[in-house]
Amino acid sequence: MNTMNTKNRILELLEKSKNESLSGEKIAELLDISRNAVWKAINVLKKDGYKIEAVNNRGYRLSTDNNILSVAGINPYLASDDYSSKIHIYKSLESTNKTAKEMAVNDYEHGTIVIADTQTSGRGRRGRSFYSPPGTGLYMSIILRSGFVDLPDATLITAGAAVVVCKAIKAVTGKEPAIKWVNDVFLDNKKICGILTEAVTDIESNSIQWFVVGIGINISTDSFPNDLNQAVTSLFPVDNENARIRNRLAAEIINIILTSNDWVTGKNLHSEYKSRLMLLGRRIIVTEPNKTYEALALDIDENNRLIIKKDNNETTVLSSGEVSVKNI
Ligand code: BTN
Repeated sequence: MNTMNTKNRILELLEKSKNESLSGEKIAELLDISRNAVWKAINVLKKDGYKIEAVNNRGYRLSTDNNILSVAGINPYLASDDYSSKIHIYKSLESTNKTAKEMAVNDYEHGTIVIADTQTSGRGRRGRSFYSPPGTGLYMSIILRSGFVDLPDATLITAGAAVVVCKAIKAVTGKEPAIKWVNDVFLDNKKICGILTEAVTDIESNSIQWFVVGIGINISTDSFPNDLNQAVTSLFPVDNENARIRNRLAAEIINIILTSNDWVTGKNLHSEYKSRLMLLGRRIIVTEPNKTYEALALDIDENNRLIIKKDNNETTVLSSGEVSVKNI
């Protein structure tokens, strides 16, 4: 058995038994390896940055401070053993969406997940960038092969992904985020998550071959560039032990998306999306390429388009665009 394998297997054991320490002897027995191999692999893990506490005569324990993203760290929370081989984690990427798109054209399978600790060129909607510092956020992209679901409209995937993020956050933290139409996830009236869905169409058949759904969540980022400062926040604006949830949150999102297609085809998607919308009944500001105006957000239609009433009493439907809630 090579050290790499042993290292990951030990990491997984330590992740699974976070609250109790495991003796070197116990680890050696569980993995059927020598105590010397355990000791060597623990040292490699420490060199990789894992804080491993050696509790007097009782063995090793992963420090509750640990917040390193790893397949071994995600694995204990996955609903199926089949998922972990689909997860690819990088320390730094330009953009997980960019890498996922490259992997998709190189025939990586449906459900392939790309995660990075930091992005040097994270992409947002409308050509914007997405601030992605190391250690404090979850930046992940998922490859969805077409054929997995027949989609009338890619916006459904985006709406579905926003609902998935809200459900996963609720399951892991108990917090209840809201969705700002179209697909920003908000907490306390500030954005904590953005979603960028990209599709590639086969020109000959005019069909979509695959989608890449990119999700960026600010988990414990405590300072943002000045231009974002007013509008964004983190799930845990003040970093603490409870904020060390990157592996668990990634697993929860993966579980919901890969376990069934209900998150995007389910009958309840429209109502689940609508019930989390934070705009309805509120005054909003609509920003269009050539003008900005105020309106009242009335409802969404069955295609999740936003129905608004302008101040001249005209009712109109927006299918995409930038809106913000007035006075927040
Ligand atoms: C937005 O709010 O405008 C969308 C932001 C999407 C950010 C995520 S982070 C993971 C994935 N990779 C990217 O480059 N962008 C998405």
